[in-house]
Amino acid sequence: MQDAAEPFLRIEGVSKTFGSFQAVRNVSLSVGKGEIFSLLGGSGCGKTTLLRMLAGFEEPSAGRIFLDGRDMAGVPAWERPVHMMFQSYAIFPHMSVEKNIAYGLKHEALTKAEKADRTREMLELVQLVPFAARKPHQISGGQRQRVALARALARQPKLLLLDEPLAALDKKLREQTQFELMSIQARTGVTFIVVTHDQEEAMTLSDRIAVMDKGEVKQIGSPTEIYEFPASRFVADFIGSINAFDAAVLGVEAGLLRLSVPALGTEVLARGQSGVAEGSKVTLAIRPEKLRLSMEKPADGNAVQGKVRDLAYFGKDSLYRIALPSGVLVQAHAVNARRGDEGARVADWDDEVWLAFDATSAIVLVE
Ligand SMILES: Nc1ncnc2c1ncn2[C@@H]1O[C@H](COP(=O)(O)OP(=O)(O)O)[C@@H](O)[C@H]1O
Ligand SMILES: [Mg+2]
Repeated sequence: MQDAAEPFLRIEGVSKTFGSFQAVRNVSLSVGKGEIFSLLGGSGCGKTTLLRMLAGFEEPSAGRIFLDGRDMAGVPAWERPVHMMFQSYAIFPHMSVEKNIAYGLKHEALTKAEKADRTREMLELVQLVPFAARKPHQISGGQRQRVALARALARQPKLLLLDEPLAALDKKLREQTQFELMSIQARTGVTFIVVTHDQEEAMTLSDRIAVMDKGEVKQIGSPTEIYEFPASRFVADFIGSINAFDAAVLGVEAGLLRLSVPALGTEVLARGQSGVAEGSKVTLAIRPEKLRLSMEKPADGNAVQGKVRDLAYFGKDSLYRIALPSGVLVQAHAVNARRGDEGARVADWDDEVWLAFDATSAIVLVE
């Protein structure tokens, strides 16, 4: 999707300042046609402000926005092929589901019959035909979300901006609605930009994610890239859980870095990153599921010994908190592959265990 000559949306060095406060700082990114692209970050990091600039509700203080090859500077919101779906949905309580969806077409130059057809099509798309005559309070939260989505899509925007589209739903419904949203996006082919503060939601929904912090984009990549190859300690911490340790580079051996890691009480080998100099201070980061837990000392490779301080049993897997001799606690996630009353877990409270990891599963971060 990304190798097309001109991306569908191109944001170039966009900033937004309110008084002396910079809400969005020098953001550059491109989105391909038909992508689901997420802006992910904590509250107040500038996600909504960036969306509002795409929609034309705010003008950038600096930088440019190109949509479908056209410079959006000075183009008013109603002339942009963009629709923004607000966090609150803004559906009318006194109107039926059908009327709410048709309302999206109010200002479109369509005949009455065309509007009725389009409304019907949207009701089918979001599977609300049987609920067409109901009022919003007579349908579920998930269905209300779909009414808002249908109304937004009725005008056939080229770009749909969704600000925290699932935030009003409870966890179970949110998971189910994520899949519906993806399926509706796939069927319409409309480019979606989704704002969320929920990293699991971003991972599930998105083709690519931009991780934001304090108005800046920290990293852009597919969910896998962001998870497996975080570019900084901030991104590594923000996405999933991770064990992070201060380390120093002792040297390079066959493409791997030899690190001194005081918290682990041993030297380890980790996947190198180009340009990391000998003697430099880095962070060694390891995801809990990349640590192999065993009772016996592994024959070779990176390994540290510790004592099980805490364990949470989830049935199919367990989360362990292992205390190392340095006093540092390490999280390890293990699948309970064996079956049995006692035998399912790999280890138990107070067991002395070994934690091993591959050099290629460890992440070396310089930022
Ligand atoms: N119109 C405005 N005037 C002044 N400050 C604003 C305005 N809009 C947003 N901000 C500030 O900009 C920052 C980013 O806000 P926002 O984009 O809404 O964040 P997010 O959507 O990521 O939670 C916040 O600190 C917010 O208070
Ligand atoms: Mg917001």
